[in-house]
Amino acid sequence: MTTHQVGSSSDELLGPNSWLNPGLAAYDFRGDVRTSPTAAMLNAITHASLLDDIDRSDSSTRKLEAYVASLAGHETGLWVVSGTMGNLVSLRCLLHQPPYSIMCDERSHCLTNEAGGVFAFAGAIPQPIRPANDKYITLEDILPIIKLGHGEKVHACPTRVISLENTLRGMVMPLAEARRIGDFAHANGIRVHLDGARLWEAVASGAGVPRGLLLYF
Ligand SMILES: Cc1ncc(COP(=O)(O)O)c(C=O)c1O
Repeated sequence: MTTHQVGSSSDELLGPNSWLNPGLAAYDFRGDVRTSPTAAMLNAITHASLLDDIDRSDSSTRKLEAYVASLAGHETGLWVVSGTMGNLVSLRCLLHQPPYSIMCDERSHCLTNEAGGVFAFAGAIPQPIRPANDKYITLEDILPIIKLGHGEKVHACPTRVISLENTLRGMVMPLAEARRIGDFAHANGIRVHLDGARLWEAVASGAGVPRGLLLYF
């Protein structure tokens, strides 16, 4: 009697499969997150050092962080497992002790798609902004709603962070407007966060290089 073992025949090993070929995910157009890794990505994965990075000794993690930091023009980077985690860690790090608010486009991913985690963990009130031009928020959208101040009034809930997103649902945020908002924020002691989960789309569209697009963040 022979026992059949899955994957044991050479036909199964050498035949078409989703790793060696584009696979079904390559033709799934329901959303841009339905992707499959390219051969170059798989190659990088198989060559990654698989050490525990708790003591910062995993060379693949460190190289990736340093590479992306250099592209962004930032002093250092931190690899996280998802965009949701990136928003949560980044925004929480910009905040200290409530009360405070985070201002963002009303369509922001962190407001509409991340189970409210940022606001729950940071104890922040969301200040959603609707862009008057139906595309991207401008300084003029922000000014009537922003709460300036540093908690001088016991009942105030000042805006501490403006969170931008580029691209936002495919919309490329014009760099000039991001700079106006950034200049205003910095002049008023407000921090600026960029959800750059889709930043590469903005780069691919020709809107700028990562260093330029991340200048204010
Ligand atoms: C703009 C934006 N931010 C954050 C996320 C969350 O990323 P993840 O699904 O890796 O948690 C996404 C995911 O599509 C996104 O498009």
